[in-house]
Amino acid sequence: MATQGAILSIAGLSVSYGTVHAVRQLDMEISEGETVVLLGANGAGKSSTLNAIVGLAPRSGGRLVFAGEDITRKPTEAIIRSGLALVPEGRRLFSNMTVRENLRLGAAALSTVEFDRERQALEDMFPITRRRAHEQAGLLSGGEQQQVAIARALLARPKLLLLDEPSLGLAPIIVNTIFEIIAELKRRKVTILLVEQNAERALSIADRAYVLAQGRLELSGAAGSINATTLEKAYLGEREHA
Ligand SMILES: Nc1ncnc2c1ncn2[C@@H]1O[C@H](COP(=O)(O)OP(=O)(O)OP(=O)(O)O)[C@@H](O)[C@H]1O
Ligand SMILES: [Mg+2]
Repeated sequence: MATQGAILSIAGLSVSYGTVHAVRQLDMEISEGETVVLLGANGAGKSSTLNAIVGLAPRSGGRLVFAGEDITRKPTEAIIRSGLALVPEGRRLFSNMTVRENLRLGAAALSTVEFDRERQALEDMFPITRRRAHEQAGLLSGGEQQQVAIARALLARPKLLLLDEPSLGLAPIIVNTIFEIIAELKRRKVTILLVEQNAERALSIADRAYVLAQGRLELSGAAGSINATTLEKAYLGEREHA
């Protein structure tokens, strides 16, 4: 049942790759303006959840309501058009294209005028998109590419931003930059669903958290109510509720 004010309601979501049941009967809700973190060990089903929300992973059950609309059976393009944006794990930029071209591809629905306006509005927050605009994306560092990927996702002003492990594989100082960007987005009231391995950092920035273990929801609650001990138990699949 969708709660009033929820921008996204997920009920009974299951994702299966053949006989691999990656997500089982997941219920989850995100309200407008919230920063929600989705945690879990390797293979817990975090990426499958994000990908399933935008129709990129095979859903074997469940219902998704986004911004008051049932998106369960919609194709990915329509889901994206309705205001969801995913920054996938590993960033997935077109490395032979320039930074600017990568941004343009992320905003295919915008006119040239709209695109120029939106990218300029993002340049202060993501200076790299101005400074390296005409360089090949593949020549940028991992952290710079992550910034381009996040900027690309923001161009169409999504109602909900899905971030899949934005700090993965980055040097500690660059991880700080990425978390500062997430904090700034939060201040700007962007609604965020963040997947992170860096649980401590993610919990310190989030309002609420969900923890998956082997595709099942193990723990959920206010981010501040989750500590190292409850988290460790949840990662091991010992059910508990905060
Ligand atoms: N395309 C696929 N085909 C088959 N199995 C898959 C596929 N993608 C993921 N899986 C399996 O589904 C399960 C969940 O994977 P998923 O990538 O969603 O986990 P994750 O929590 O994002 O893990 P990680 O922290 O490593 O990114 C794992 O057992 C994984 O091996
Ligand atoms: Mg993943």
